[in-house]
Amino acid sequence: MMDTGLIPAPRVVGSAARGAFALDVATTLWAAPGTDTTERWLRSALGAALGLPLRPGPQDAPGGVRLLLDDRLEPEAYRLGVGDDGVEIRGGGAAGVFWGAQTLRQLLGPDAFRRAPIRPRTTYEIAHRVIEDAPRFRWRGLMLDVSRHFMPKEGVLRYLDLLAAHKLNVFHFHLTDDQGWRVQINRYPRLTEVGSWRARTKFGHRASPLWEEKPHGGFYTQDDIREIVAYAAERHIAVVPEIDIPGHSQAAIAAHPELGNTDVIDTTSLTVWDNWGVSKNVLAPTDNTLRFYEGVFEELLDLFPADPARFPEFSGFFHIGGDECAKDQWKQSATAQARIKELGLADEDALQSWFIRHFDNWLSERGRRLIGWDEILEGGLAPGAAVSSWRGYQGGVTAARAGHDVVMCPEQHVYLDYRQAAGEDEPVPIAYVRTLEDVYRFEPVPPQLTEAEARHVLGTQANVWTEVMEDHGRVDYQAFPRLAALAEVAWSSLPAPAERDFAGFERRMSTHYARLDALGVAYRAPAGPRPWQRRPGVLGRPIEGAPPNV
Ligand code: ACM
Repeated sequence: MMDTGLIPAPRVVGSAARGAFALDVATTLWAAPGTDTTERWLRSALGAALGLPLRPGPQDAPGGVRLLLDDRLEPEAYRLGVGDDGVEIRGGGAAGVFWGAQTLRQLLGPDAFRRAPIRPRTTYEIAHRVIEDAPRFRWRGLMLDVSRHFMPKEGVLRYLDLLAAHKLNVFHFHLTDDQGWRVQINRYPRLTEVGSWRARTKFGHRASPLWEEKPHGGFYTQDDIREIVAYAAERHIAVVPEIDIPGHSQAAIAAHPELGNTDVIDTTSLTVWDNWGVSKNVLAPTDNTLRFYEGVFEELLDLFPADPARFPEFSGFFHIGGDECAKDQWKQSATAQARIKELGLADEDALQSWFIRHFDNWLSERGRRLIGWDEILEGGLAPGAAVSSWRGYQGGVTAARAGHDVVMCPEQHVYLDYRQAAGEDEPVPIAYVRTLEDVYRFEPVPPQLTEAEARHVLGTQANVWTEVMEDHGRVDYQAFPRLAALAEVAWSSLPAPAERDFAGFERRMSTHYARLDALGVAYRAPAGPRPWQRRPGVLGRPIEGAPPNV
């Protein structure tokens, strides 16, 4: 294959014919009905970067850009042709056309990734060629934790642009946790008045003696959320909100003490947590808690509407967390124990599945699909529910065998908060070393699945937990360049891990780093962290050796 420096690698790049096509101020744009998202994006992003107006022109304008739908292609597939007569992007659906436009931008060089022209140049040449491309997986995602450290709305919109540039199409938005509640809920204003900020923050791993002695917080208004969802939809990215229950809920309990296990502790004394780890302060399994969260979800279902026309594969998913619910308080709580007895349940684990199943049914009745971390498998789920397999592959294997859809995101492979090199200079090093090459060799489909079971693997996502990422520069550092490798794993039809051409990927990365520079991404350079990317003296929690084979 000719080396175009494209990331993720396309399926087929036809051998280049001689010649090149030049875009200039006179180049016109014709967009077939149904391709308007790409039409707008080309003018607003590519047009702004290169100073090209891309004025509307006729379909047969010589030397124009043409966008078409072609029902012989899969919905996200595209065919990009560059020849004497201009540029033609055909997509199986609107998303395919959009991914084709992302490829066009990469072919135009790093200047196409800026927001304004930087040279008095007026023509941009692309060699004649045909690219045919389609994704391997339907779900190609990033989970971003905005609870541990808040990312202001502008930063989220920027991340959506970064996802689009890598043909990633799911943004899993981790909106709540022990350390902060980040979304306005009109009927419960205290969730953000109290729950969206903390007085101070642990700096480093929880064993670190350091504190950032200043308030940290922030939240998205409902209009911010509408803007984020619309901005994502324009880029063919689905936003999957996560409200984590019944564990990871201390921020909500600090705002509404009645949600906690009031017969075990004085929940009125709780604050939004300022340290890291798994809080023991979990939701009480009461009717009051169920009604409260139904109220929260009612508002959120409006803010994150199902959009089956745009996202036929996974429209309407709603993530309810379900991970790491400490059972200590339920063991001590007379109320929780009475509930276990009343429901005829075996133990506290069964109580957790009762809790999850309640919302599974509640969401199904509203035409939505529950997704949760793999702990939710412990107890049986509605047929439409799906699982994010994080503790390894096993949850995903079990889920797929039981007929549930799965998103593979095992922590041993694609947790981008984990350190990316062994050196002393890695900022606040957490867990195992997961290099760019490790992520590149990650295989989302475990070999023990049959072909039919493997069809339940919707795809894969990287997860970015932000305990030690205090600002967007730190998020960039952990996410990049590894998210580019994850994007290729998710999009491209790569061979088995051992046979993957990592050297070839690295060569293409040398082109891609120039794009990331133009985008202003504070990635980890191959030579290691720059001085200001280090955090000397801030304690992490590195784990030596390779992760267990899971
Ligand atoms: C998780 O990492 N607790 C999903």
